[in-house]
Amino acid sequence: MAKGSSFKTVGILGLGHVGLPTAVGFAELGWQVIGTDSDSAKVSLIAVGRCPFYEPDLEPLLRKNLAEGSLEVTADVGEAVRKSDILFVCVGTPQKPDGSPDLSQVESVIRTIAENLNGYKLIVEKSTVPVQTAQWIKRTILRYAGNDAKFDVASNPEFLREGTAVHDFFHPDRIVIGVESERAKKWLLELYKPLNAPIVVTDVNTSELIKHAANSFLALKISFINMISDLCEAVGADVTEVAKGIGLDPRIGPQFLQAGIGYGGYCLPKDLRAFIHIAEEHRVDFSLLKEVERINDARIDKFVRKVKQALWVLKDKTLAIWGLSFKPNTDDIREAPSLKVISRLLEEGTNLRLYDPAAMENVKQIFPEKPPKLLYCKSALEAAKNAHAILIVTDWEEFKNLDWNKVKEVIALPIIVDGRNCLDPKTVREAGFEYYGIGRV
Ligand code: UDX
Repeated sequence: MAKGSSFKTVGILGLGHVGLPTAVGFAELGWQVIGTDSDSAKVSLIAVGRCPFYEPDLEPLLRKNLAEGSLEVTADVGEAVRKSDILFVCVGTPQKPDGSPDLSQVESVIRTIAENLNGYKLIVEKSTVPVQTAQWIKRTILRYAGNDAKFDVASNPEFLREGTAVHDFFHPDRIVIGVESERAKKWLLELYKPLNAPIVVTDVNTSELIKHAANSFLALKISFINMISDLCEAVGADVTEVAKGIGLDPRIGPQFLQAGIGYGGYCLPKDLRAFIHIAEEHRVDFSLLKEVERINDARIDKFVRKVKQALWVLKDKTLAIWGLSFKPNTDDIREAPSLKVISRLLEEGTNLRLYDPAAMENVKQIFPEKPPKLLYCKSALEAAKNAHAILIVTDWEEFKNLDWNKVKEVIALPIIVDGRNCLDPKTVREAGFEYYGIGRV
């Protein structure tokens, strides 16, 4: 606990891709942190310094703060609540079939807070929740803890990216806090002070809305450049050059203009659908975002069509798929484009040789190995063995500087279909490959 601070202990409820980096980050900043999760197996793993998912640089920091005692973890959520002054709600908000977020985990943890309220608590929404969720949280606490319960509810959306969560925690572009009391504002400004980052202070509704707006804009940028790539494909232009040419305008910016097989992951797809759902609930026209989603959903068909363009007949062909995670530097396959590509190509009667540096164990839960139809390989080179084409679905760094002569020696046909435009066409063509990018010449 920092000397003279207004609070002592920070509780992190939910130790997933958001909660665990947040718990470790606050502990590293010098705060006393207690983390908890309803999954006791996950808590046991974390308690011995193991990260239950692949996140670069997180495990050493976890071990350090456990050893220093600045971070403790418990499977007893009630204990964590009783010991904490600030409580961050970091539980999952998965998506329901109608696109709206499933807030049952949020409600469950709020009820546990209400049942263990032993003094004033600041309850902070970090999970991505629909605007006006805080009002429900307040109502639920009062309902289960009584009208004299002492607490505030605030919003503090996370902007961590998987694969760079540790970096993003310590170097945030901005911190957004939505508060409705001076005490909540004081405590959160104090908590984040060591980061010296720009802090946007708003009311709670505005803060909740910022998160959905941010992710929806990122998705819009991606679908925009993917739409442009379709025109580049039709007229023979290069979308990577278009991206460079427009991205140099600081009002546009170069990031999130990488055309390809589309966005996946646990956040962008879910947050976009939730945002559309909220707008519809309030009779606001968000058809622009529906188009963003439609464009993204169509990427898989376009990619499979490109594979057919390259190979003509797919039946009985052997294809290497390089990259299964939804993005590089993660083992997360939630809404990963690879899952739809695998299904489609198996339907076409192909034999698949899969490789990913981190995500194969997760994919095996969905697509068990079934030689010779479906094989998991130990390297990109092994996956290329006797393949009639290499399909790049995730742009892991290691695919960008392979020894193409070695690949050529083992492959059946020197064909590359680059679903992430991550290779240099000139380099691979000079090595004797046919190269098919997305919207590239
Ligand atoms: C996102 C937001 O970036 C982050 O701020 C928020 O807190 C959580 O959601 P994340 O889902 O981890 O982070 O991944 P991100 O880096 O945003 O990539 C999302 C998807 O978009 C990936 O599938 C990626 O491959 C794809 N993408 C990204 C593109 O297709 N083109 C791009 O130019 C950038």
